[in-house]
Amino acid sequence: MKIVLVIFGGKSTEYEVSLASAISVINNIPKDIYQVLTLGITKDGSWFLFEGKTEEIESDTWHTSISATPAVISPDAKEKALLVFRESGVERVAVDVVFPVLHGKNGEDGVIQGLFELACLPYVGCDLISSAVCMDKVFTNTLADALRVRQAKWLAIKKFDYAQSAGEFETQVTSYLGFPCFVKPANAGSSVGISKVKTPDALAQAMADAFVHDHKVLVEEGINGYEVECAVLGNDDPLPSVVGQVIPSNEFYDYSAKYIDNASELIIPARISPESMEAVRACSVKIFKALGCSGLSRVDFFVEKTTGEVYFNEINTLPGFTSISMYPKLFAELGISYPELLDRLIRLALEKQ
Ligand SMILES: Nc1ncnc2c1ncn2[C@@H]1O[C@H](COP(=O)(O)OP(=O)(O)O)[C@@H](O)[C@H]1O
Ligand SMILES: [Mg+2]
Repeated sequence: MKIVLVIFGGKSTEYEVSLASAISVINNIPKDIYQVLTLGITKDGSWFLFEGKTEEIESDTWHTSISATPAVISPDAKEKALLVFRESGVERVAVDVVFPVLHGKNGEDGVIQGLFELACLPYVGCDLISSAVCMDKVFTNTLADALRVRQAKWLAIKKFDYAQSAGEFETQVTSYLGFPCFVKPANAGSSVGISKVKTPDALAQAMADAFVHDHKVLVEEGINGYEVECAVLGNDDPLPSVVGQVIPSNEFYDYSAKYIDNASELIIPARISPESMEAVRACSVKIFKALGCSGLSRVDFFVEKTTGEVYFNEINTLPGFTSISMYPKLFAELGISYPELLDRLIRLALEKQ
């Protein structure tokens, strides 16, 4: 039996989202094929092998549990193991494949993927470079422009430069992008630090809010569109899913609309024309391949309400992964059950190696 190490939590604003995704993953990995080990990372970055029940992950008490033992992945390529610091000494626990169920900073951006590379451990999902590029909205947008993929007009600036020339930048935003516009930290997720700005006088506050999360911020023209998402699965010959639609409960799909008020709707298939649907699927595969993705990604778009034109928004290399999240639901529509999806992702990781 292959030993799968599921990693959850993480030093990221999406820690809680990761716990929710990980519980579903841990409970649904086919136990007749895989043995599951779980490694938790706390919000402040401490690592523990967790040998307790998923209820303790759900209540976020897992890290103070007697079932949590300090542990790290050895970067030594010969070990392919977890080093567990028991009271009796260091125990080496062999690992065959890693399944990082981590969202956002440190988990979805290539940082931890670099450690898996050093350790020579196969892992589910995109590699270091692809994770890093997809996490950074400025790099992603730059590449999408190079690929001639249609997206909202955008501008980006670093904290240092903004401090020198805020007024100039705001004038540029007003004349080139107009209002409403969206201000975003380049590296974040779950809408953390993102504001919809309707008037020039609200821009400075939105910029300050975004700079809390990153030293690089981008501003995008607001697209009046339906929000649709396409899941992609595979390595060299990736399979696009059907297209799903999100109807945010708030004015835009902010953190509360995503996770708190429970009133946002997911509609499958999306209520868009067959032409827009095909454009979304084709563009998803194009971006997945061009950005070097492997395993999985969810590619998000806007379909402009009056023209039906498709605008690329962003790509998520470790999208929300609870059994009722968009990614698994889109593949369920194609007849791939959640446990089967997990099995396929693990196989893709092993194949890549
Ligand atoms: N250019 C845009 N036009 C219209 N709405 C946008 C735009 N950019 C972002 N949004 C809204 O903000 C939400 C979060 O932005 P997104 O870029 O997807 O960041 P995150 O990585 O945090 O999900 C989107 O789901 C959408 O509701
Ligand atoms: Mg998004």
